[in-house]
Amino acid sequence: MDAFVVHGGRRLSGRVTVSGAKNSALKLVAAALLAQGPSGFSNVPDIADMWTMKEILEDLGARVDAPEPGRFTVHAPSEVGQETSAPLAKRLRASLVLLGPLLARAGRARMAMPGGCNLGNRNIDMHLSGLQQMGAQITYGPDWIEVTVDRLAGAEIDLVYASVGATENLMLAAVGARGTTVIDNAAREPEIVDLAGFLGAMGADISGAGSSRIVVRGVDGLHPASHRVVGDRIEAGTFAVAATLTGGDLEIVGVDPEHLRLPLDKLQAIGASVEPVAGGFAIRGHDALAATDIVTLPFPGCPTDLQPMFIALLSQAAGTSMVTENVYDGRFGIIGELCRLGAEIEREGHHAIIRGPRRLVGTQVEAMDLRAGAALVLAGLVAEGTTVVRNPRHVDRGYAYFAERLRAVAADVERMAVEPAGV
Ligand code: EPU
Repeated sequence: MDAFVVHGGRRLSGRVTVSGAKNSALKLVAAALLAQGPSGFSNVPDIADMWTMKEILEDLGARVDAPEPGRFTVHAPSEVGQETSAPLAKRLRASLVLLGPLLARAGRARMAMPGGCNLGNRNIDMHLSGLQQMGAQITYGPDWIEVTVDRLAGAEIDLVYASVGATENLMLAAVGARGTTVIDNAAREPEIVDLAGFLGAMGADISGAGSSRIVVRGVDGLHPASHRVVGDRIEAGTFAVAATLTGGDLEIVGVDPEHLRLPLDKLQAIGASVEPVAGGFAIRGHDALAATDIVTLPFPGCPTDLQPMFIALLSQAAGTSMVTENVYDGRFGIIGELCRLGAEIEREGHHAIIRGPRRLVGTQVEAMDLRAGAALVLAGLVAEGTTVVRNPRHVDRGYAYFAERLRAVAADVERMAVEPAGV
């Protein structure tokens, strides 16, 4: 059995170069299917989810070359497949974003219900009702949906919630539709802006990405293009929390600090100093950490993907903190595992009440999903003795070389085989 084995007590120090964003790169390579020919991507993260997406695209008839680290070329075929295979789609939530490109190219898409982290209810009603408003018909199977359309038509779509995936799918469907599509209450995440940038380079006509009203005028004849993936704000935030937690000192580059404005404000309120540097920011943790309250919200709010790291951090802050999770109803799995390490955290509905600081003592814990797994590794950095985080494959889905990169900034973390019952 593999695990991250963490020996606590080191202060992190040095420089971290952030990878390209998982949640952008996955959508960008899917978007490449919109135009026959080769689209090239740089700054692609070397994570398990990207390799799964590569297999899905190949299964749909594309050729995907990865000639060197960080580079993908997607050769979109003249005829794109219309069905995603269940075993592949179940490994990846982002497979859902193929719905838009497949409908645009082939007029029909049968999607196996997507997998991804188990974070509670992950509906897709907004994706489907938006496509219906663009003229698509939907048939439901036991574990698939089929969407068909003669030609997508522009529509005025008002999302009831600023869903990242629904905004992306509707943009992808709208770029080749007849007429103009307006997406109101659109998600404003930097990954949406990145996707719009690539689609623009392919010849699409999109305005308003990054605001809550996106206007897409359908065009004929998109063409392949090249794009550099935006830096991963969640990975940057993970390292920033690690610096704060350990009283360390990191320079984090390859990311726009504006994409992390609220989390960095929170880290400063908890007790870190943050300064801009060329291409990123520097962060220095201090010994005394103060309690604070955090509320997760769509961008520009505090990202839910950093919520488990903040809970780990606040377990070491003096006083009572409250973290409120507004995006997922099942993203508090970290609480039980942190309590096993010695944290004092209570859950009340979608609030976590954290009393700190409490001494953490290493033991075996379980990475139940990607972000919780990363947060448990961070907790291990300040726990006494050895923390063993089982199920590292969840973390591999979204962080490239996590242990190696933490080691490069002075952490004592190894990814290794361990006995199921102990180290
Ligand atoms: N929702 C609906 N109906 C829909 C779509 C969403 O009810 O049609 C609900 C979901 O059930 C969920 C909430 O809206 O409670 C947020 O969903 P959203 O569509 O915004 O998220 P997503 O596109 O499924 C992406 C990221 C997540 C990240 C969220 C929020 C990818 C592949 N995933 O998911 O990333 O948490 O946006 O920022 O881009 C992660 O990286 O660890 C991760 C989970």
